[in-house]
Formats: sequence, structure tokens, C-alpha cells
Amino acid sequence: MEQIVINGGKRLEGEVYVSGAKNAAVAIIPAAICANDICVIENLPYIEDVDGLTKAMTQIGAVCTQRDDNTLEIDSRNITNCCATYESVRQIRASYYLLGALLGRFGEAEVPLPGGCDFGVRPIDQHIKGFTALGATIDIEHGMIRARADKLVGTNIFLDVVSVGATINIMLAAVYAQGTTIIENAAKEPHVVDAANFLNMIGARVKGAGTDVIRITGVQKLHGGTYTIIPDQIESGTYMVAAAITGGDITVRNVIPKHMESVISKLSEMNCQISTGEDYIRVRGGGNLRCVNVKTMPYPGFPTDLQPQMMALLCKGHGTGILTETVWENRFQYINELKRLGANIKVDGRTAVVQGDARLTGAQVNATDLRAGAALVIAGLAAKGETIIGNVRYIDRGYERIEEKLSSLGADIKRINREV
Ligand code: EPU
Repeated sequence: MEQIVINGGKRLEGEVYVSGAKNAAVAIIPAAICANDICVIENLPYIEDVDGLTKAMTQIGAVCTQRDDNTLEIDSRNITNCCATYESVRQIRASYYLLGALLGRFGEAEVPLPGGCDFGVRPIDQHIKGFTALGATIDIEHGMIRARADKLVGTNIFLDVVSVGATINIMLAAVYAQGTTIIENAAKEPHVVDAANFLNMIGARVKGAGTDVIRITGVQKLHGGTYTIIPDQIESGTYMVAAAITGGDITVRNVIPKHMESVISKLSEMNCQISTGEDYIRVRGGGNLRCVNVKTMPYPGFPTDLQPQMMALLCKGHGTGILTETVWENRFQYINELKRLGANIKVDGRTAVVQGDARLTGAQVNATDLRAGAALVIAGLAAKGETIIGNVRYIDRGYERIEEKLSSLGADIKRINREV
């Protein structure tokens, strides 16, 4: 059983390079199915979710060749199997993109109901609504979702909730559909735009990604190509928060500052000093952090995937902060673990009231999901003494070499393999 051990209290300093965006990567790998050709995907993060999805692609018959840790060649010409097995996708939420991509290309797909991090009900009704509107028939039986269509025809789809997954999945299903599909109330996240840019690179006609109306005009044929994934917004934010909580001075490189505006704004409000260049953000923590209120929202709002890390940071600010989670119904499960480190947080429904000036001290804790794991690392960096974090596999799903990157900034952090 692997654990991360942190001796907290070190000020972090230096430069860190951000990896490619997980949530773009897990959409673009299945999107390569649509190409029916060879695609080379660069700047992939070296993380468990990418590895898992690559295995699932292989299982359905794509030939995946790892050129190096961050570059994958996918040859989707000989896919013979439209059915992903439970074993190949059970831990990956993004397996649902196989559904849209296979349905779009073959008119047929069978994929297990998605797994992934557990923070309450994670419905996919909007994906299904989109596929059905395009002309597919959907059945859910024995834990599998089956989609079939003789023909997909473009139509108007208004999403009832802003959903990243449904927006991308409908784009994937619609690339070959006859006529034009219009997604209204679409998600605007950077990874939605990245997936659309990838599809356009292979010959699709997707317009409007990044706004709340996306138009996809079906084409007859797509082709291969080489595509570079954007930097990870959430990994960038995690290192920015690490700078803030340790009173450090970190330059986060290979970022798109525009994607970080909501985070820059909150950290500035907390008294961090921030400067940006074309592809970097420098965060200086200083000693006078103050608590603020944060509400998570779809992009360009403050990302829910940075809510736990921000919670850890608020513990060290002066005063009281209120954190409201509006995207997921139950994303506060990790707070009990933060409390073991000394956090003083009261939860009422989707609102958490954080009492700042907490005296954090190291303890043994467990990651309850990916970003919860990141929050425990952040808190551990500021806690006095030794923090031991279990369930590291969650963290590995989304962070490339987190302990190496933090060590290079001066953190006392290591991974150990403890016998159970
Ligand atoms: N929702 C529905 N019906 C649907 C789909 C979503 O009601 O059919 C609701 C959800 O219950 C949730 C909200 O809509 O309340 C937003 O869900 P969304 O579909 O946008 O989430 P997702 O696509 O399943 C992606 C990321 C998550 C991130 C969310 C929100 C991937 C693989 N995952 O999930 O990332 O939290 O968008 O930005 O892209 C993470 O990286 O740690 C992570 C969990």
C-alpha cells in the first residue's frame, strides 16, 4: 500500500511545470475513435486515468503505441468491437466518452455505467437525452448502457444542466451525423474547447466551443493528425494554492493564465501577490493571508475541482471563509480528514464555514477521492510534523509525479510502500 509522507512547514520556492490537462486527455483519447485513422496525442499527462483509458481503447481494438511518457499514437482504423468491458473501465468516469465516440462512428456502442470519484449521484441523463435526440435508442441493462442508431440526424439539444461530459459526448456523437446539431447551454470549460479543437483538427466542423452554443455540422469522413493537449487548469491551481499556504514563491510554468482568472482573483483577494506572463503565473504567499468566500461554478467560475484545495488554504487564512459548492451535491466528504489535521470547518448542506488561523498538525489521513487527496497534500505541506496520506491511488489518477514536483520546490515529501 503506497502512502505519501510529508513533513510540513517548509516554504516552497522555485518553478514547476504543469502537465497536460487530465480532463481534456480523457476526452481526446476516445475522440481518436472518430478519426478512423492514426492520431498522435502530445502533452498527455502521465497519470492513471490516461493509462486506464488507453487500456480500454486497446480492448476495443485500437492500436495504442506509447511513444514516450507523454505521447500516445492511436490507430483507430481496425476497431472491431463496440463493447467496452467492465474490467477495462470500472474506475474511470470518462469511459462515458467511449459511448459518444463509438456511437458516432459505428452507430452502436455498449459501455458499462461509469465509475470514478464518488461525490454523490453522478447522473448521465443529459448525455442520454442528447444521444436520443440525435436518433439513438438507449437501453440500460445489467449495468451496461447500450446505444444504437441506424442513422444519427442533427438537431437542437438544450442541456438542462451545464454538463462538461454531456457537451463533449454529444459533440463526439454528432461529428458524423447528418446536418447540424446545436447544443445550447453547453459547458464552456477549457477542456471542452480542447476537445472541439482536436475534432476540428481531424476534419470535423465544430463551431462555438467556449460559448454556451455549440454547432456541429456532420461530415462524411475524418482523418488523423497530431494534437497537443492544453495545460491542466486544476494542477496549475493546486501549485498556486501550495505557494499560498506555505508563504512561498512559486512560478507555475506551461499554463494558460486566461484559464486561471477565477483562481488568480481569489488568491489576490486573500493577499497573495500574483504576476503573470504569456505562459506562467508567479504566486507569492506572504504572511498575511485572509479568508474569503468562494462559490464553485461552471467555467469561467471558480472550479469545483479546486474546491478541496481551497478549503485547505482557507484554514490558514485570518478570519472566517464560506465555501459553497454548487456543482456537486456531496463533495465535502474529505472534510473529516482535514479535521484530523486540525481544521475547524462546519458543514451545512452545500456550504462549509471555515474558521481560519487553524493550527494544523500532521496526522494519518486517507484520500477519499482525487481532489480530496490533493487537499490533504496541501494541508500536509502547512501542517507541523508528519502527515501520512493513504489511498494515494486516487491522487495518481490525476496528478503526474506530484511528490517529485513538490520536492523540487523544497517540500519534504516522499512516497513509501508500507506492508499491509
Ligand atoms: N449532471 C446531470 N446530468 C448529467 C450530467 C451531469 O445532472 O447527465 C450534473 C452533475 O450531477 C453535476 C453537474 O451536472 O451536478 C456537472 O456535471 P458534469 O457533467 O459537468 O461533470 P462530469 O462531466 O461528469 C467533469 C470532470 C470533473 C468535474 C466536472 C465539473 C471529467 C472526466 N470530469 O465531470 O472532474 O468536477 O466536470 O467541472 O471531465 C476531477 O477532475 O476531479 C473531476 C471530478
